[in-house]
Amino acid sequence: MGMSYETQAGLEGGRSFHIRTYGCQMNVHDSEKIANLLAHAGFAENPEDEDADLLIVNTCSIREKAEHRLYTDLGRLRAWKERRPGRLLGVAGCVAQQEGDGILRRFPTVDFVCGTHNLRWVPAMVAAAEQGRRSLRTEEDPSRARFELPERHPGLASPTPGRAFVTVMEGCDMFCSFCIVPTTRGREVSRSAASIVDEVRALADRGVVEVTLLGQTVNAYGRHDLRRGRADDQGTTGFADLLAALDAVPGIERIRYTSPHPIFFDDALIDAHGGLTSLCPHVHLPVQSGSDAVLEAMRRRYRGDEVRALVERLRTARPDLALTTDLIVGFPGESDADFEATLELVRDAGFVDSYSFKYSPRPGTRAAELPEAVAPERAQERLEALQELQRAQTLAAHRARVGSETEVLVEGASRRGDQRSGRDPYHRVVNLAGPAEPGPGPGARVAVQIVEATPHSLIGELSPAAVPR
Ligand code: SAH
Ligand code: SF4
Ligand code: F3S
Repeated sequence: MGMSYETQAGLEGGRSFHIRTYGCQMNVHDSEKIANLLAHAGFAENPEDEDADLLIVNTCSIREKAEHRLYTDLGRLRAWKERRPGRLLGVAGCVAQQEGDGILRRFPTVDFVCGTHNLRWVPAMVAAAEQGRRSLRTEEDPSRARFELPERHPGLASPTPGRAFVTVMEGCDMFCSFCIVPTTRGREVSRSAASIVDEVRALADRGVVEVTLLGQTVNAYGRHDLRRGRADDQGTTGFADLLAALDAVPGIERIRYTSPHPIFFDDALIDAHGGLTSLCPHVHLPVQSGSDAVLEAMRRRYRGDEVRALVERLRTARPDLALTTDLIVGFPGESDADFEATLELVRDAGFVDSYSFKYSPRPGTRAAELPEAVAPERAQERLEALQELQRAQTLAAHRARVGSETEVLVEGASRRGDQRSGRDPYHRVVNLAGPAEPGPGPGARVAVQIVEATPHSLIGELSPAAVPR
């Protein structure tokens, strides 16, 4: 907004780009932002990297495997680049931020490296690359300027009709001992509420009904900015106030947020789950472990019982709330008893689903220096046991819903491709019985009756009286 990205880049039309995205929703949304910038610079999005002129790999370094994907890709992309002269290759995201110049030095095929605070420079870096100049931008930007990006280019297709991500804060100041994110995403900065509300209004005008608010610790929104009272922080509010402001935007029917940190649930946020009609009855609440000793070594700043108390308060505010979580097994020093405590917390909190990971040491983090590594076979056993418990718990929760009515926001074809699929307000995947065509397309909201439960999803039938809205 305000700045002209077209003139900044000075690009010719007719060239196409493709972005390969790894990592979390923040990265998916960053790729959308990069795509929009490139569209404004005259590039066309290409669904296939095989015939694109410009390829950007948007990277993740949360675990070693994720980081390694980039190096495998870059090895293979040498041939891709050689197949057509003039092709350009960029690296963005968390590995770019972390490794910076090292990537340019190690991989001569890479034309530019763009860190997590510098997305708006991508068109300029592409323009430089077209002139044969390689470039790097990884400086931290503590201002809010990075939130102010141009409006959506009309020529860009929405990959998610009816739904959109909205950045509300970036960075993380928590420094959990296992986690690389505070290094790759920098310090917490919150966007002004006015700017967020404006964006959500514009999305609603375009037909978006569901917004997912994004931040590494999304419910810490505003905490530093409010306190500092900096001149450019005007209009920042607390997270619950922000939710209320967005709930009031006409046309927005579903609000989600990810990921909250358990310590930032205040009374106002808990109450919001009971009071705001568009706030979805689902919270993704990463707890990581159920053992107090492990939680302390992880520097998570809560105990298992505090999670239990929080869950109870959330369920009191919203009895049908669905909770999901993230868990790590095999953290250094994790004993059998510690792992049992995790299983117990998963049962007590009644998580309907969880993402579980084997601990992966990340360079430069506190935990990477801890002794008492858990043997890989032991970590694998624990992962499998945890996933088995979760599968049973998920299936039981799904079975309990058979016969009930819900509303599905259609996303597209199911995984197998033969049915329509979408999500209900609880964020469960619901496949719609019957053929994918004809019927309500992506972006439609339909009333559905749940007729069958599987371990991964629900199966629903369009309610007879349902009029697609
Ligand atoms: N901000 C969120 C999650 C960020 S990363 C939070 O506060 O929890 C997403 C998930 O990756 C984390 O919840 C954690 O379960 C997992 N993760 C992060 N670092 C990891 C590591 N070093 N090894 C294994 N899993 C990790
Ligand atoms: Fe990583 Fe912890 Fe920050 Fe989440 S809160 S991003 S796990 S440091
Ligand atoms: Fe990965 Fe960066 Fe997200 S490390 S999980 S892409 S914040």
